[in-house]
Amino acid sequence: MLDNKKVSYSGVQPSGNLTIGNYLGAIKNFSAYSDEYKCFYCVVDSHAITVRQVPAELRRRTYETLALYIACGLDPDKNTLYVQSHVPAHTELAWILNCFTMFGELSRMTQFKDKSERHADNVNAGLFTYPVLMASDILLYQTDVVPVGVDQKQHVELCRNIAARFNQLYPDTFTMPEPIISKDSMKIASLQEPTKKMSKSDENVNAVVYILDDKDTIIRKFKRAVTDSETCVRYAPEKHGINNLMTIYSCYTGKTFEEIEREFDGKGYGDFKLAVGEACADALAPVQQKFNELIADKAYLETLMKKGAEEAAYYARKTLSKVKRKLGFVQ
Ligand code: TYM
Repeated sequence: MLDNKKVSYSGVQPSGNLTIGNYLGAIKNFSAYSDEYKCFYCVVDSHAITVRQVPAELRRRTYETLALYIACGLDPDKNTLYVQSHVPAHTELAWILNCFTMFGELSRMTQFKDKSERHADNVNAGLFTYPVLMASDILLYQTDVVPVGVDQKQHVELCRNIAARFNQLYPDTFTMPEPIISKDSMKIASLQEPTKKMSKSDENVNAVVYILDDKDTIIRKFKRAVTDSETCVRYAPEKHGINNLMTIYSCYTGKTFEEIEREFDGKGYGDFKLAVGEACADALAPVQQKFNELIADKAYLETLMKKGAEEAAYYARKTLSKVKRKLGFVQ
């Protein structure tokens, strides 16, 4: 709670162009809290450098991610939108929480295991302690809910363990956050390997639909989506490709799986893929239009970054000084 309101907190890494997985799994759900909660949505650039980034691209994507937050419906007057590295309290609390996080806990994180395989030449300490920085993001704002995709659930659970451990030693320090995972879009899969999640860092661009892809590209990617040898559109646990397309179609049209099966009864995968592509492209068109307006006005985005960082820093400092007081640091 902050100012007698519950708090919603989440973040997105500017480590690649954002995908419809980021949109459907996370960003789309952020605005549900704008009216009743105090909302903080962060562009987590400090997390992004756990894998090597090209500086000019990191800078460009930081602006783009902020613009996409707004283009996807987050009103900057109702939500605190900011860049993580602009609020130094995040990394300061992260050090403290490192001392309350166990090596064994971090070793069990599946994202760490995945990323250390993918970046075997750069298994740095930041990659290992990544979830601790994420815990500081969340705990600094006395967060109640964390809307995320299912791949981040384990990190939020670790954050809860850290908070519980800290609170046991120093009572009433942190609010216990709850991960909120929207069921219908919990995991949007790769279009080429539908057992894997759609990821902004995938090297195969055909596996991923980016929020900023144009209509032709979106339709082409869906047409090439890997499915199975059947032809009728129906849900079945082992039909990962079709299930994924049904999930995406359902997210964009609001139709249930039964309604989708009825709609495409007697039609083939070709018709279905085209319909998914069109529904996705049509839904993204207004987002893209708004994005293009925003990204052309860097000065406006910088004003927002500054305002967001000041608002966030105000609350972050309060929690940080409470933590330091409890630990026995001389203030
Ligand atoms: P990131 O940048 O990988 O992804 C941002 C959000 O998008 C969700 N997501 C997906 N959801 C469904 N299907 C997919 N294919 C898919 N791909 C990504 C992610 O679950 C996430 O919610 N560690 C976080 C960023 C972070 C954070 C935080 C989140 C840093 N601090 C504090 C919440 C609270 C991450 O790497 O997200």
